[in-house]
Amino acid sequence: MATPAGLHSLPHDEVIPILDFGSQTAQLIARRLREIGVFSWLVSPSISPAQLLAMKPKGIVLSGGPASVYEPGAPTCDPAIFGLGIPVLGICYGMQLAAHLLGGKVQNAQHREFGRAHLAVAHPSHALLRNVPDRTTVWMSHGDQVTELGGGFGSGASAGASSTAQFRSLASTSTCPNAIVELLDPSKGRTLYGVQFHPEVTHTPHGVDLLRNFALDICGCKGDWRMSDYAEQAGQRIRERVGKAGVVCGLSGGVDSAVVAALLHKAIGSQLHCVFVDTGLLRNGERQLVESTFRDHFKIDLRVVDAGAEFLADLAGITDPQEKRKRIGKRFIDVFKVAAKGVHDARFLAQGTLYPDVIESGHGHAGTAAGIKLHHNVGGLPADLGFELVEPLRELFKDEVRKLGSVLGLPDQLVWRHPFPGPGLAVRVLGEVTRDKLAILRDADEILLEEIVAANLYRRTSQVFAVLLPVQSVGVMGDGRTYESTIAIRAVETQDFMTADWARIPYDVLARISSRIINEVRGINRVVYDISSKPPATIEWE
Ligand code: XMP
Repeated sequence: MATPAGLHSLPHDEVIPILDFGSQTAQLIARRLREIGVFSWLVSPSISPAQLLAMKPKGIVLSGGPASVYEPGAPTCDPAIFGLGIPVLGICYGMQLAAHLLGGKVQNAQHREFGRAHLAVAHPSHALLRNVPDRTTVWMSHGDQVTELGGGFGSGASAGASSTAQFRSLASTSTCPNAIVELLDPSKGRTLYGVQFHPEVTHTPHGVDLLRNFALDICGCKGDWRMSDYAEQAGQRIRERVGKAGVVCGLSGGVDSAVVAALLHKAIGSQLHCVFVDTGLLRNGERQLVESTFRDHFKIDLRVVDAGAEFLADLAGITDPQEKRKRIGKRFIDVFKVAAKGVHDARFLAQGTLYPDVIESGHGHAGTAAGIKLHHNVGGLPADLGFELVEPLRELFKDEVRKLGSVLGLPDQLVWRHPFPGPGLAVRVLGEVTRDKLAILRDADEILLEEIVAANLYRRTSQVFAVLLPVQSVGVMGDGRTYESTIAIRAVETQDFMTADWARIPYDVLARISSRIINEVRGINRVVYDISSKPPATIEWE
């Protein structure tokens, strides 16, 4: 696969493709370059020099990867890529592979380096090192390293150096003399830089400077790519792909599917048909927000399926969380299938798959980015629905999707929405789910979110919600004794939802939330705050 989504137009005329050798952080390089204003994305390392040239890249990056260059079957690339007259930056494995292919020496390091290392810059005035201090911290994660440059780098090898070649080490660490290297060989069209550390991760504080210097100074990019260009060009790619056919897009109320729908609407207008399944397990106002945004504002053909009664019937008497998920997932697919079949001429199904979902399912180009997490796939659709998939967000991270949503004119309320699980409130009513319990939880959750927004905490937290516990306790209201239910408040801060810390919501905000819920929601006489981190707890209670 050469270009994004396998298509031929690119989202800008200044691009830097990244040959993906399977590092967990390869996509982060693309994202950093996009932040710098240069469109970048991952391509297969087996890409041919001709395919690369056809993209007219301003530079090429070789990513890191878990392999060792001497390992049988280690991913490689065509060495002719180094002679295209296009600057190349090799990162970690990418640097080792470049050295290996050009006749240098890579060896298992005496000291494997994992974690922070101190970089000493030898040529501070070099264009690649502008704004990088002479002494700085870098993030290393390697067993091998390039041990021979100079004479070794290219000596005698067929892909080797000419007499005009210049090699030098630009920076070192205590255990890695060639932490940044340069190879210039104008008569062979080679401009190659290699860094043994990872400039794309935040643990390398000046990594972004280095990537910026490479992209802007060395490759000569202007850095004027913007998310609006992405919207434009992604639209063009969608049009090329779907032609005149209809596309079905399932809306969930979350940001990802909303952005997909807005993008498709801009690209193909009335060929887009959206389906929203009202499971009866949604929060107050959720269906209305989807209807007002997509039907009233965007004028999209939106089909709302009212399936609450079916979902509730499936859940009657069920208390086991996994069984709830199974039943909801099955019903969702059945309902969605019927609605999608009703769409005339629909050949494509649009999905809001993001880059982290791609990497979690282990589908990196080198096939080596190991699956990290098995996600609860409720609300997901099986592959055999009979549609071809359109996944226009596959290259983006969540915050980039939010940016794209804003560019496309989605309301902030949708763009900044906290995630909401596929099984919805069913996993937040602990124990059996009933209509009455759902109504109580909805009202409590609405108050909680109102207060979090009012206290300006919504954007500072990652997920906030109420849980209805199957616990009744004694209270007193007025002169009377009550025996009513308990609401737990869950508020977390997290980067990736795999680990999370409980949010330090100020006491006065908690006090307001508690007093409003107890006073305004019939059936609740006690509110508790969940102060558990993940792990060992999870974010959801079921
Ligand atoms: P946990 O509870 O596993 O949640 O710490 C991590 C993130 O995943 C969401 N979540 C789900 N999302 N279907 C979903 O689509 C599910 O069954 C499900 N369970 C949890 C949860 O809301 C949090 O954002």
